[in-house]
Amino acid sequence: MLITHKLYNMDCLEGMRKYIEDSSIDLVITSPPYNIKLKARNEYTKNYMDNLSEEAYRGKIKELIEELIRVTKDDGSIWINMKSRYFNEERKVVTATYGSLEPPTWILEYTWGKLYLKNLVIWNYDINSDTKNNKFHPRYEFFFWFTKKAKDYKFFLDEIRVIPKTRDKRNNPKGANPTDVWYIPLVKGNSRERNFHPAQYPEKLVERIMKGCSEEYDTILDPFLGSGTTMVVAKKLNRNCIGFEINSEYVKNTEKRMNLAQKSITEFRTSNTPTIKNVIVNQLEIIKR
Ligand SMILES: C[S@@+](CC[C@H](N)C(=O)[O-])C[C@H]1O[C@@H](n2cnc3c(N)ncnc32)[C@H](O)[C@@H]1O
Repeated sequence: MLITHKLYNMDCLEGMRKYIEDSSIDLVITSPPYNIKLKARNEYTKNYMDNLSEEAYRGKIKELIEELIRVTKDDGSIWINMKSRYFNEERKVVTATYGSLEPPTWILEYTWGKLYLKNLVIWNYDINSDTKNNKFHPRYEFFFWFTKKAKDYKFFLDEIRVIPKTRDKRNNPKGANPTDVWYIPLVKGNSRERNFHPAQYPEKLVERIMKGCSEEYDTILDPFLGSGTTMVVAKKLNRNCIGFEINSEYVKNTEKRMNLAQKSITEFRTSNTPTIKNVIVNQLEIIKR
């Protein structure tokens, strides 16, 4: 069985309309830019596109959701990661000191009647950096998990059960449901997993979503691939993957990560299953605009 990984170096809306057929995707995992005017502080952020007017930004998210609905299969899922932002009286995004917190529930305006929101997962993490001591430190983001059908969608709880928090003879011996609050640390600066991107997903986070909502040989889509974590995890879990990324430096970074992942998979297979016949050949294909 051949698995393919395609990385398009282009705008995702343009690319999806051109290259992705209706009802061809099993699972979408993505994190659109937050539109928080991320400063071009270093190499990671110098080309980062994160500075639209709020109206234009919401318009893009609306178009994105329409495209995701078109390309996702009937039993598929769409996971969209967003976080709360602070707005001032003129409804402009500002820093926490000057604004009022607004969770991103406005995206439900674009999904209502078209998708079912199955969970609003809280991704809780920890970081060392400290902000001013005039409020609690924010330590979470949201994952909106949408399905196209109210029931009969892919979900494999047994693949992602966790160790129960308490000992109880009524506990399921297969493990506990991970619930809708997930503590998964961010990728730290000194971690081996750390990469060339300001908003890199930890592999563990993507792995839980992918194992829970897709099967081997399914097709995963990430329209904002960033550091490439979705594609790397897809490769490790034998899923096809299509990614879009507008920044060519980030694309090169994903290419490197995919080559490294291929190397370690090949080494593992050679030393553990030397006689395996149907080795999956999966080359990364990079398509430029
Ligand atoms: C929040 S980051 C995604 C991070 C990603 N989840 C990861 O694990 O690294 C958003 C990414 O979308 C890219 N981007 C912004 N606008 C885009 C567009 N119109 N089409 C494709 N990619 C875009 C940015 O360059 C950035 O890398």
